[in-house]
Amino acid sequence: MIPNNMKSIKGFSKLTKEAKIEWLISNYADDPEKALALIKSYWNTDSGVQKLHDEFIENTITNFYLPYGVAPNFLINGKVYCIPMATEESSVVAACAKAANYWLTRGGFKTTVTDMSKRGHVHFLWEGKNSADLFAFFENIKQKFFDGTASITKNMRARGGGIKDIILVDKTAVKENYYQLRATFDTCDSMGANFINSVLEEFAAILEQEISITTLLPKDEMQLEIIMRILSNYTPDCIVHCEVSCPVEEMNEDSTISAEDFVKKFITAVNIAEVEPYRAVTHNKGIMNGIDSVVVATGNDFRAVEASAHAYASHKGTYSSLTHAEIKDGIFRFYIDVPLALGTVGGITNLHPLVKFSHEILGNPNAKELMMIVAAAGLAQNFSAIRSLVTTGIQKGHMKMHLLNILNQLEATENEKKQIVESFKNKTVSYNAAVDAFTKLRGEANIKNNKS
Ligand code: MEV
Repeated sequence: MIPNNMKSIKGFSKLTKEAKIEWLISNYADDPEKALALIKSYWNTDSGVQKLHDEFIENTITNFYLPYGVAPNFLINGKVYCIPMATEESSVVAACAKAANYWLTRGGFKTTVTDMSKRGHVHFLWEGKNSADLFAFFENIKQKFFDGTASITKNMRARGGGIKDIILVDKTAVKENYYQLRATFDTCDSMGANFINSVLEEFAAILEQEISITTLLPKDEMQLEIIMRILSNYTPDCIVHCEVSCPVEEMNEDSTISAEDFVKKFITAVNIAEVEPYRAVTHNKGIMNGIDSVVVATGNDFRAVEASAHAYASHKGTYSSLTHAEIKDGIFRFYIDVPLALGTVGGITNLHPLVKFSHEILGNPNAKELMMIVAAAGLAQNFSAIRSLVTTGIQKGHMKMHLLNILNQLEATENEKKQIVESFKNKTVSYNAAVDAFTKLRGEANIKNNKS
């Protein structure tokens, strides 16, 4: 029973967009008229573009803006990129751009992709006594999984990808009667989620059909229960390696710290993230600031990338840093190994106008190249964060970028913002200091206005 004071509705998704908005604002908005104006103010003036956005998800009523910035001067494998980034966090683009500039004159980012395999599973329960019988049955029908999905995999095979392998895995040691079909895929330049899931659903149907007619199993073992068929977003076989390096003496900061001391402190900070999960989570969060911004701007699935990166950060048994640093023969080396399952075709990559623009300014990279660009953004972000943390502290740069947010919250005018930003040029920004500066300026302006 739904309490009748609840503002619930049946068949909401079937209403027109206008009716949805009407229902929403009349039931939930404090000021329906103001809410309607707000919602409409975010509609695209081009109705075609708006329709495109409306159809990305269900129940779209408007658009949600994120700032879209660019970080230029990224030298990656000898080529300079201007990287698009979509994020709400004040200092992320600035930090990436700063690191890009730093490494532009020190050899740039060098990156490689070792493999691009993705996995998916049919998870099922089988109550048979002897798992060897199930393995014999599987080997006997294995080819049918390839043949039975040939029409789904045709296009992918034509592009050089498809199903790489299928194995049966006995998981009964971790859960009674639990087995899985584990398939490995090459999805070329697409992230491949839809492709993999379609293939897995067909695998499950083939498995159910074949077990019901097999002569290789006792009669009472000729059935199984399919629990689910789904790709895995954990992609430890889809790893990008990215690094920066240069002679230690070139890592000069400023007169307050020598290059040697800076590098030593930097490496110790990375070591702490390697051994202390509380620090590792924040350290990796900073890496994901860079990675997610590019992943969003290029129309990829940042939740999948996040989930995989954090799982990979634990692959040695405890949660640890995704980046590492060392000095060898007088050379400082800072690197990341991170799983990135990205696509440059499919999904919204060929639909969203700004996503298409992101790909355009990156030179329309293939998936492999995009993986390398994204890894470089992650490493750059982490470099800038640690560089600040072990020297000036993070708040100096962060609050400087955040100052405009504070002033916007206070509804400062453009002229007031200009004056206050200028006054903080050589001062540490804090919320209170910004409010003080603002009230002082307004007060002075009022006094001046009253006098005139
Ligand atoms: C803030 O979004 C990210 C940092 O905390 C990352 C870090 O501490 O390494 C600055």
